[in-house]
Amino acid sequence: MCGIVAYSGTKSATPILLNGLRKLEYRGYDSAGIAIHSDNTIHIYKEEGKVANLIDSIGDYENDAVHQQCHVGIAHTRWATHGPPTKENAHPHGAGFVEPGGSRIALVHNGIIENYRALKARLEAEGKVFLSDTDSEVLSHLIEFYYTDDLAKAISTALKEVQGTFGIACIAKDQPDMLVVARRGSPIVIGLGEDQTIVASDASAIISHTRQAVYLDDNDVAIIRGGKIDIKTLDAKPVQRDTADIDWSEGAAEKGGYEHYMLKEIFEQPTAIRNSIRGRIDLDRGTSVLAGLGLDSREIVDLQRLLIVGCGTSMNAGLVGEYAIEDFAGMLSEVEQAAEFRYRNPIVGSKDIVLAISQSGETADTLAAVREAQEKGALVAGLVNVVGSTIARETGRGIYLHAGPEISVASTKAFTCQVSVLLLIALKFARSRRLSREQGIKIAEEINSLPELVERVLEQNDAIAKIAEDFVKFDNMFYIGRGYLFPVALEGALKIKEISYIHAEAYHAAELKHGPIALLEESMPVVALLNAGPGMEKTLGNVEECRARKSPVLGVISEGDEDARAACDWVIEVPQSSQFIATVTSTVALQLFSYHVARLRGCPIDQPRNLAKSVTVE
Ligand code: F6R
Repeated sequence: MCGIVAYSGTKSATPILLNGLRKLEYRGYDSAGIAIHSDNTIHIYKEEGKVANLIDSIGDYENDAVHQQCHVGIAHTRWATHGPPTKENAHPHGAGFVEPGGSRIALVHNGIIENYRALKARLEAEGKVFLSDTDSEVLSHLIEFYYTDDLAKAISTALKEVQGTFGIACIAKDQPDMLVVARRGSPIVIGLGEDQTIVASDASAIISHTRQAVYLDDNDVAIIRGGKIDIKTLDAKPVQRDTADIDWSEGAAEKGGYEHYMLKEIFEQPTAIRNSIRGRIDLDRGTSVLAGLGLDSREIVDLQRLLIVGCGTSMNAGLVGEYAIEDFAGMLSEVEQAAEFRYRNPIVGSKDIVLAISQSGETADTLAAVREAQEKGALVAGLVNVVGSTIARETGRGIYLHAGPEISVASTKAFTCQVSVLLLIALKFARSRRLSREQGIKIAEEINSLPELVERVLEQNDAIAKIAEDFVKFDNMFYIGRGYLFPVALEGALKIKEISYIHAEAYHAAELKHGPIALLEESMPVVALLNAGPGMEKTLGNVEECRARKSPVLGVISEGDEDARAACDWVIEVPQSSQFIATVTSTVALQLFSYHVARLRGCPIDQPRNLAKSVTVE
């Protein structure tokens, strides 16, 4: 949540900071700002709304001496937590005001300062004047309070008093060539360029400059000056952090001719899934090869339970995993919402493997669940997309998705890649336990065919767009499914509500009769997951019940299923397959459906209101 960019180098900082903010805007987009060091002064510019507003208000920075001569700066795009999205609450926050304008220091902050009230009262008693409602401004004043001539020391002293999470970048008026960054619980990546260092809260703001990066660990403070980087702990002990290669191509984080990132990412799914499963299927042995899990067959047999934790779309993917683990491997599996897991003193132990699923690898609740499971002695693995992210590093073992950057706030390709890899995990666990080679080969072949099946769903884009026209008018919807398709209903409802603002609820098809059916009428359409598989006949019966109450029904059905077609008002056909494969194909169909409904309703698809990519606060 929120995006940070910072620069130190030989070029003008302003265009690099603004360009970085555009790349990070998906992380938060209610206000933005930059602070640059030029002319012996810290100049702060901020604006409410999108980065484009900030750029407009700065004006012709390419021909302005202040901007031409600035070589150090910090920038931020905000997702409001404390205080509304106003210009005053936008970052950077200055502190220690000096004449004729400018501040002694300026700071950008991601995360939450939990004890900000107590700190603020203390600082106000010292005479500090606050201009915003934010917790972040408290941190800038605290650092300034301790600052004499050693910025890094002042930052460390202040951070030791802070409870909560932070990723920060800070500059000082009397240190024109210095940039200091630090983290606890909120990512900071330092990109190592030639004659320049670009810091960001995620790699997408860095890849146009360099592929070499250093990821800070919690409680690291890095002092960046003249291309040299010194990393210390909060107690000033020097530490070394490895340099990693960022393997995302620059184009991967661009729109590539599509109207929205979401549509591009929906269409990328055949390639993304191919990349997720590449080299991980052993067709000959009817199993999968998942070295990152670090488990041999004997260890897998000894495991009693696979516990999956995640949030939102990642949790929905986890539910498909739960069904597959129990179905293929006959092994106990449960999915738990990560925030619940962390706070309800869960029962886990050494016979459990806990799998944390997260696209970003930074979701606060999922990370906390990982730490809780580790505390309780469980084996913990990650299923993560962003390489080098906190969950990936803290779990130490696991599987990367290789889905490429997901920029659209609404998750699409991460889900289908997560499900593909979860099916591979289920296959591996199953082969170590009860599945024969022949059964394994059959499942492996089906997983291998996923990219091609998804391509066939994408071919229906125009037909799905046409159906979407009839749904623009609705304000409420139900999604129903059974078995493997119940998580698909959950994911379909989540997708439509977040991008089109239509209120949608998902129910297990059997649950409809236990209350929600009271809401069925002409204005309440139902999306029914009707792909062939166990329980399909029963779901068809539920569809009849809906239509008897005048609810129009959109069915996602298997190609050529005339009974299902006849039962629905509209249908989207997906290729015939096993139900566990239909979780992916049906979800792709519903992603396209949500996309077109949202587009026709004129919604800001890539950046829906109130949302942000990567939820790094509780
Ligand atoms: C929905 C969506 C969110 C995320 C959730 C977890 O489209 O994107 O529900 O899935 O915030 O995020 P990650 O996977 O990054 O942990």
